[in-house]
Amino acid sequence: MEKNVQDELVDRLTSQLRKLSNQQEKNIKSLINDLYTQLESFSWLQKGLAIKGILPPLRGWPVSPDFLLRLHRWIRKHKPQLVVETGSGASTLVIADALRQNGTGALISFEHLKKYGDQTWQTLVDEELTQWVDLRVGELVLWDKEHLNPEDADKPSRWYPLNFDNINDIDLLVVDGPPEGTCRYARYPAVPALFDRFTTNTEIWMDDAKRQDEKDICERWAKLYNLDFEFIPLEKGLARLTRSGASPQRNVPVSQPPIVGQDDSVKPEHALGLDFSLPEERHSR
Ligand SMILES: C[S@@+](CC[C@H](N)C(=O)[O-])C[C@H]1O[C@@H](n2cnc3c(N)ncnc32)[C@H](O)[C@@H]1O
Repeated sequence: MEKNVQDELVDRLTSQLRKLSNQQEKNIKSLINDLYTQLESFSWLQKGLAIKGILPPLRGWPVSPDFLLRLHRWIRKHKPQLVVETGSGASTLVIADALRQNGTGALISFEHLKKYGDQTWQTLVDEELTQWVDLRVGELVLWDKEHLNPEDADKPSRWYPLNFDNINDIDLLVVDGPPEGTCRYARYPAVPALFDRFTTNTEIWMDDAKRQDEKDICERWAKLYNLDFEFIPLEKGLARLTRSGASPQRNVPVSQPPIVGQDDSVKPEHALGLDFSLPEERHSR
């Protein structure tokens, strides 16, 4: 190989390596910042909680600390009379804790697996929180009403057994179940099933809104039910839906976080009012 060809090759490889190394460094910084955001949220959450024991682990299946912090603060501020959630767990405990501190309100929680329902109930017993929660455990049943999952799908549409007892005037609906493995767009029925139990100010919070299926669900709800849809870039993504034209008084975000759009340059810590970016990244925005 001629010398200048060799030099050119070495230059190209060196430049590619430098790019890769810069990208790797950026990824690591970003991971550390994301982790720090969750630890920070957890720390603020702990300060707000009155429970004496520990929360279930908050990695993997459960909601993330940043979601729980926002949820707890929203309930403490807005004092809802009725919260409904689909998918029980750490969120059940955190919602019940906020209601007890408020001294008012109730949570109706739908759970499809006895094993996890029992676990959740035991944590509520240990914390003497059972009076704030009506935990409805029942296997999923076929859902034959409107759905995003096609009628001929391999896994037919299913949802929690409909039990509307005492469900009137929902202030907050937290959608975190059933899991995606039960059928495609598994969470879709939440709004069709409960829409006529909403008030003009009902808020709907969808966890995992970074996932395409959950985004599609929210977009369809927004269109069919005339809801406003805001994406908040928490770790797993939070979609907040409200009735169009709902009273601004009740929809003021708890900690006045910046209202942000769905944009890759927006990081989870922005939702907490923090900015960990490097100075040069700030200028380029
Ligand atoms: C996304 S999880 C619900 C999480 C709940 N909102 C929380 O904050 O922990 C949805 C469902 O997964 C199931 N589940 C909970 N923990 C699980 C685990 N460790 N492994 C498998 N499934 C689990 C439960 O049936 C739950 O209703």
